[in-house]
Amino acid sequence: MKLGALLGRQPLPEIPSIPAYLRELALRTKGFLSAAEGDRLYHLAAESARRAPCLEVGSFCGRSTLFLGAGCQASGGHPLFAVDHHRGSVEQQPGQEYFDPELLDPVLGQISTVSPLTRAIRQAGLEDWVIPVVTDSTRASRNLPALRLSLVFIDGGHATEDVDEDFRAWAPRLISGGYLCVHDLYFDPQDGGQAPRERFEKTRAERGWEQVGLVGSLGVLRRC
Ligand SMILES: C[S@@+](CC[C@H](N)C(=O)[O-])C[C@H]1O[C@@H](n2cnc3c(N)ncnc32)[C@H](O)[C@@H]1O
Repeated sequence: MKLGALLGRQPLPEIPSIPAYLRELALRTKGFLSAAEGDRLYHLAAESARRAPCLEVGSFCGRSTLFLGAGCQASGGHPLFAVDHHRGSVEQQPGQEYFDPELLDPVLGQISTVSPLTRAIRQAGLEDWVIPVVTDSTRASRNLPALRLSLVFIDGGHATEDVDEDFRAWAPRLISGGYLCVHDLYFDPQDGGQAPRERFEKTRAERGWEQVGLVGSLGVLRRC
């Protein structure tokens, strides 16, 4: 007999794979997440959103949002809070490496990714499972003080102060067993900035965290 049964626990239901049309839509949506990283986020959200909401910092046009939102839907439990000020990160501004002229709002003359995000959520049929929060990560945290989370995905600003602030704001909100997922962990500085990896490694070395795994540049810790 399995240990869970001996202890009188119900086995968790199997998590089905993400529906093919949602996966295709997510991968067609502008973003920086690979298919393998997206599948991982989907599974973690499907498992954890049974217990409490999930939250991402850095929705951009909605690729990670769709993977996480689809996971919340599969869980049948809690939704995803999708936090982004939608002004773009430093490297997405005009003249910078990841500038995309299609994202320049013609009236504002500035980057705005709100419309692509809400369009993606609507096309995916995930309006019941994704709550967009259009503001700065710190302001969102200050104004949602009671929110407890089963999964936090950090993919906002990549400067040291931004990453540190996101960890400070959201990691303490995780319930026991909750997942802390961080994107863009690079071991070679040639591949990208080092702030997310440095912060991830500092956190992993603290008491109360265990590493779950690494897929592509996505690292996952569990709060224990
Ligand atoms: C690298 S993109 C996110 C990519 C996305 N997760 C994907 O699916 O590929 C970073 C996003 O973080 C947002 N961002 C940067 N700093 C932020 C902050 N302090 N608060 C909220 N959003 C922020 C930017 O507007 C941008 O859309």
